[in-house]
Amino acid sequence: MDLTIQIPRPDDWHVHLRDGAMLDAVIGYTANRFRYAMIMPNLTTPVSTVRQAERYRERILRAASEQTPDFQPLMTLYCSSELDSSDLLFGYEAGIIKAVKYYPAGATTNSSYGGNNILDFIELFEVMAENNIPLLVHAESTDPQIDLFDREAAFLEGELHPLCEQLPKLQVTVEHISTRAGVDFVLNYPHVAASVTPHHLSRNRSDLLTPEFHPDLFCKPIINSESDRKAIVDIVTTGNPSFFLGTDSAPHPISEKYGEEAKAGIFNAAYGLEVVAEIFAEEEKLENFPAFVSKNGAAFYGYEPSSSQLLLTREQVELDLAAMLSTSDGQQVVLFGLEEASHWTVTAI
Ligand code: NCD
Ligand code: ZN
Repeated sequence: MDLTIQIPRPDDWHVHLRDGAMLDAVIGYTANRFRYAMIMPNLTTPVSTVRQAERYRERILRAASEQTPDFQPLMTLYCSSELDSSDLLFGYEAGIIKAVKYYPAGATTNSSYGGNNILDFIELFEVMAENNIPLLVHAESTDPQIDLFDREAAFLEGELHPLCEQLPKLQVTVEHISTRAGVDFVLNYPHVAASVTPHHLSRNRSDLLTPEFHPDLFCKPIINSESDRKAIVDIVTTGNPSFFLGTDSAPHPISEKYGEEAKAGIFNAAYGLEVVAEIFAEEEKLENFPAFVSKNGAAFYGYEPSSSQLLLTREQVELDLAAMLSTSDGQQVVLFGLEEASHWTVTAI
């Protein structure tokens, strides 16, 4: 395969940049490549107020200061009992806050401040619907009775379906969809879209679990079956406007990935774009790649695509497939997608 494609600089509609030494280590990957980045608020102390979001944005921009001027972090607030709707409205109208993120408590990293049922926040969501503030949802049941691989479907049916029926105008993103049920849900609602990760597009649960458990592929929602992966690939490669890239890049040091309890999250900001390009190339749908990575999300969140361009060329490059990211405080992070990245060059033009 010898292929070349030019795209508007892409946006990442779901990214964890962390803070401190980890932020310093990862920021370049996002800032050099992406224009807008929807910044997740699940820091150790959640980003729940406009003031905290403003300060976090300043830390991100300071860390990115050497990077491309095209990069713009878009801040989100963590939906918890701490979130105040008048503070949110102020932050939204001032252009500081772009969206609110809902986590089910206990579903994932730093989710303990989240909710037990999304409908408990209906009054806040009514205010958001009236003011066109998007709600980003980690759609995963935490009910221990429900099989881990069925938890996205269970949440969609039990919690998000009633919410979308009650507030049909609320703009909702089902984050990191991982199943056919996620695809079907999004197609049913005009104001609902989905972010999709490079790892849910390219790996299945057999990759995660054979010949043994691979902590590097452990994330929430869990990577699901091959038939689920295929359903997601099939829809995104059509260029359907309700689906767009959100890497869910979520760095954890190997000391925490390979420890007693593997932390959920995959660091893919470095090479996620190549992983997605490889999928579109394999499916012979590269013509729809710009829609997925550079246009659909921008349109959903009210922006034009970037006027600056990247060129991707499928050609073999030398990469150390065992390379890791190092932080200034001595941590190492595994890089997802090195294999795919060795087939592509990406340059700004
Ligand atoms: C994310 C993280 O580490 O912050 N982890 C993950 O597995 N995706 C949180 C999240 O988005 O679920
Ligand atoms: Zn995430």
